[in-house]
Amino acid sequence: MSENFLLYGANGYTGELAARMAKERGLRPILAGRDPNKIEPLASELGFEHVSFALDDEAGMDAALKKVGVVLHCAGPFSRTSKPMADGCLRTRTHYLDITGEIAVFESLAARRAEAASAGVMLLPGVGFDVVPSDCLAAHLKRRLPSATHLTLAIQGMGRISHGTATTMVENINRGGVVRRDGRLTPVPAAWRTREVDFGRGPVRATTIPWGDIATAFYSTGIPNIEVYAAVPASARRMMKASRHLGPLLASAPVQRFLKGRINAQPAGPSDAERERGASLMWGEVQDDSGQTKSSRLKGPEGYTLTAMTALAIVERVLAGAAPAGFQTPSLAYGPDLILEIEGVERVDL
Ligand SMILES: NC(=O)c1ccc[n+]([C@@H]2O[C@H](COP(=O)([O-])OP(=O)(O)OC[C@H]3O[C@@H](n4cnc5c(N)ncnc54)[C@H](OP(=O)(O)O)[C@@H]3O)[C@@H](O)[C@H]2O)c1
Repeated sequence: MSENFLLYGANGYTGELAARMAKERGLRPILAGRDPNKIEPLASELGFEHVSFALDDEAGMDAALKKVGVVLHCAGPFSRTSKPMADGCLRTRTHYLDITGEIAVFESLAARRAEAASAGVMLLPGVGFDVVPSDCLAAHLKRRLPSATHLTLAIQGMGRISHGTATTMVENINRGGVVRRDGRLTPVPAAWRTREVDFGRGPVRATTIPWGDIATAFYSTGIPNIEVYAAVPASARRMMKASRHLGPLLASAPVQRFLKGRINAQPAGPSDAERERGASLMWGEVQDDSGQTKSSRLKGPEGYTLTAMTALAIVERVLAGAAPAGFQTPSLAYGPDLILEIEGVERVDL
C-alpha cells in the first residue's frame, strides 16, 4: 500500500486543521479539493503535493485515488459529497474515511457493505468527534453489559462551530429528530426529550439530537434502542422546538439563503485559543431487560482538535495495513479502546 493518503477538502476549516496536524505527525498527505487556488497555497506552505478535481470529475478523481491507499474525505455536507467519493474509492479500490456525522450518510454507506467487502475496500465514515469517542464509549458499555437492550449517550462541549458544521445543521433544520427503536430508525420531533445528565461537573439539562450514533452504535453494539442527547442552552432548545412547526419555512430557499449568509459572516471555526481551552465530555449508559445498568464517562480535547486527532490516528492505522474490508464503524474496526490512544482522553466507569 502507498504510504500516502489523500486529504480531500484540505482547504476547509477541519481539513486544514488535519493537514497542519498531519505535518506535525510526520505524515505526508496529498492535499486535494475542488479549487486549485485554495489548495495550492496551503500545499506549498506545508510542503505537500496537491491535486485538484471536482467530485463529478471521475477521471480526475480516479487518477488521484490511484496514487494513494486511503482518502480522508473532509469536504461536507456529506449528504452531497460522500457518494461520488465512495464510488471513486470502490472503482479504484481505495479505502474511504470521512468525518460525517449525518445519519443518512452512515446508512447509505452501510447499505454498500457487500460491494465494499467484495472490492476489498474499507468504508469507514465518522472518523471525527462524531462518532469516534461516542462509538468507542458505546462499544465499551456493551462490553460491560453484554445483555444491554437500551443505550443512552450524551455529549457536551461543542463550543463554537465551523461553517461546515453550521451549514450541515441548517440543511437538516426541518428534518426533526431520530432515535433507534427496536432496531429501526424512528423519527421523533426535534428536541423530543430533555433530561438531566452529569458529565462529571454536576447535572445539566440535555436534549435529544439526531447524532451519528443513532446509526452507527447499532452496527457497533447490536443494541436495538438508542437515544443521543446534547447539553444545549435553553435558547437553543426553544429554537429546536420551534423548528417542529416552522420546518417547511426554515427549509425554503430564501430562509436557507439568509441562514447561510449569517454563517458566512461568522469566523470559519473556533480559534486556536478557543480550541485549546475547550473540552468535550460524554456520558453513556446501557440497560438490560432485567433493569441492570452500567454507565461510563469520557473526557477529551475540544471537538475539532479531537476530530483531526482521531481521523489521523485512523489514517495511520490504515497506512500500517489495518483496514478490514466492508462497512465499518470506528470500534468495529479498531476496538472500544481506540479512543484511549488519543492524547488527553480519559474514560471513567461509574
Ligand atoms: N464528525 C465531526 O465531528 C465533524 C467535525 C468537523 C467537521 N465535520 C463536518 O465536515 C464538513 C466540513 O466541515 P468544515 O468545518 O471543514 O467546513 P468548511 O470550512 O465550510 O469547509 C468545507 C470544505 O468542503 C468543501 N466542499 C463543500 N462542498 C463541496 C463539493 N460539493 N465538492 C467539493 N468540495 C466541497 C469546501 O470546498 P470549497 O472551499 O472549494 O467550497 C471546503 O474545502 C462538514 O460537513 C462538517 O459538518 C464533522
